[in-house]
Parts: sequence; C-alpha cells; structure tokens
Amino acid sequence: MTFLTAQTSLAKRLHARLDALMPEPAGAQASVIEAMRYAVMGGGKRVRPFLLVETARMLGYDDEGALTAGAALECLHTYSLVHDDLPCMDDDDMRRGRATVHKAFDEMTAVLAGDGLLTLAFELMARDEVHPDPAVRIALVSDLAKASGSLGMIGGQVMDMTVSETDRSEKTITDLQAMKTGALIEFACVAGARLAGADANTTDIMRAYAQDLGLAFQIKDDILDAEGDAEIMGKAARKDNALGKATFVSILGLEAAREKANKLGEHAKARLAQFGHEAEILRDTVDFILSRDK
Ligand code: IPE
Ligand code: IPE
Ligand code: MG
Ligand code: MG
Ligand code: MG
Repeated sequence: MTFLTAQTSLAKRLHARLDALMPEPAGAQASVIEAMRYAVMGGGKRVRPFLLVETARMLGYDDEGALTAGAALECLHTYSLVHDDLPCMDDDDMRRGRATVHKAFDEMTAVLAGDGLLTLAFELMARDEVHPDPAVRIALVSDLAKASGSLGMIGGQVMDMTVSETDRSEKTITDLQAMKTGALIEFACVAGARLAGADANTTDIMRAYAQDLGLAFQIKDDILDAEGDAEIMGKAARKDNALGKATFVSILGLEAAREKANKLGEHAKARLAQFGHEAEILRDTVDFILSRDK
C-alpha cells in the first residue's frame, strides 16, 4: 500500500468511526454536541490517528481497536484547536476551511464543546474494544492525560502564550514546541507501540521518531504561517509575527528553519532503519509532513 492510499483509507474509516462514536445532538445539550461534531467531523489531516494506527499495524496490531484509539486522540487534538482559536488565545476566525467554533456558534458553546471533546477522548480510550487487556487501556489513558496535560500540550500552550521577547533561545522554543505539538505526536506513536505489545527498545525507537517528527511538524506549521496560502490551509496565515509568537521562523528566519525541519525529517526516517520495508509508510509520512501545503 502507498502512503496516499493508506492516508485516504484511514481518513474515511476514521470519519465513519467518529460518526458512530460521537453522541447525537439532543435535549438541552444539542448545540454543544452539534458544535463537537462540527469541529471533529469537519476535516483536518488526521495525522495523529494515522501515526497511531500505522505504528500499531507495522508492529503487529492490525485491529479495529486501534481506530477507536485514533478517534479518541483526534477528539483530544480537535479540542486543543477549538480552544487555541478562542479570542483569549490566538483569536482566529477560520479553521479547517470554515468558521471556527466560537464564530459558527458562540464562545460559551466553543469552550464547552472543547471540554466535551476532551472528556470524550478519555471515555473512548478506555473502551473495551480498544484492546482486550485492561492494563494496556489504563496505560493509554494515563499516557494521554500526561501528554495533553499541564506538563505536555497545555504546558506548551502556556509557554506559547507567555514566552517573552527576552526569552527566545533555541532551547526555550524547542521545549515549547516539544510540549505543545510534540507531546501528542509522541503519544500517537507510543500508543501504537503499546497496543502492539512492543518491547522497550522498539517503543523507544518509535518515541525518538515521533520526537523528531513532532518538532519538524511544528516548524512546518510555522513556515506555512509565514509563507503559506490561507485559502489552501483553511486557516489564517501571517499571524505568528503579528501576535509576537516565538517560533523557529522568528528566531532563525525561513531558510534556516526549513533546513532544520529537513534535517529533523532525515533523522526521523533514519530511526526506522531496522524496520526496513515495513516502515515505508511511516517514512513517507515524514515527506508528507515536510512538503504539505496545509
Ligand atoms: C494544527 O494541527 C495545530 C498544530 C499543532 C500545529 P494540524 O496541522 O494537525 O491540524 P489539522 O488537524 O490537520 O486541522
Ligand atoms: C497550536 O499551535 C498547537 C495546539 C496545541 C493547538 P498553533 O496555534 O500554531 O496552531 P494553528 O496554527 O493555530 O493551527
Ligand atoms: Mg496557538
Ligand atoms: Mg493557533
Ligand atoms: Mg500555527
């Protein structure tokens, strides 16, 4: 299977799974549930569930349970976008090619829809269908809480909002990006390894791959902010500079940031050497992430 076939097929299967797993709008909660569905069913590249499902498959867990785990992770990631777009955060009007949740609904609904997606993620991750061994499911829930919490994604969002002009070292920005974006990407690959019952050495390889890829992913996001086409990206461009964000583009400039992302991509691919042909799709994922235009 090629990367493109795998990506298209995962996106389709994930859409159907999310549709089946999300609550139906009804009663007093109807508008919040509608907003949750609007946010999560409305597109996105589905990179995190793809990494989770593909890692699990490569390491021997080719089971529908991985798709439910991927759906849980996509709910969590989508919550982070809904809140990232709020007026008190990045204040954005467009996401995934349409109005952000607080624009299409209102701010209260966006906060609660984000909360709803966040908590739904843990309910889904704990489901029996994810993996027959409850110890594996508990480990996934715990890992996801850590990856998304105040020492993970949220911690990175805090830094993103507060890092000042005087504290823009490469080390600070690397830490910031490893937390705000790297943590969930790392979770995706480690979760795939956990589902497959991989040994510690294999899990460490997947973690290292994900760390390189996660950093490359956010640098590419920052490059796209600086030079991408908002129409194609489905979200605003040229915002990071205006908001004073600390990124590799802001401290290194576009060319050096591009070089850094490419180097990280090469490292990520090299990590997978021992898997040979089996890792072709995960290697192609690196190229996809570095060459994407949205
Ligand atoms: C955007 O993530 C937020 C970042 C962490 C850079 P994605 O680029 O994966 O967004 P979607 O899911 O494809 O919309
Ligand atoms: C967001 O980073 C990272 C999250 C944890 C949501 P950005 O603020 O750069 O993401 P975009 O550019 O709005 O998608
Ligand atoms: Mg942000
Ligand atoms: Mg943003
Ligand atoms: Mg961005």
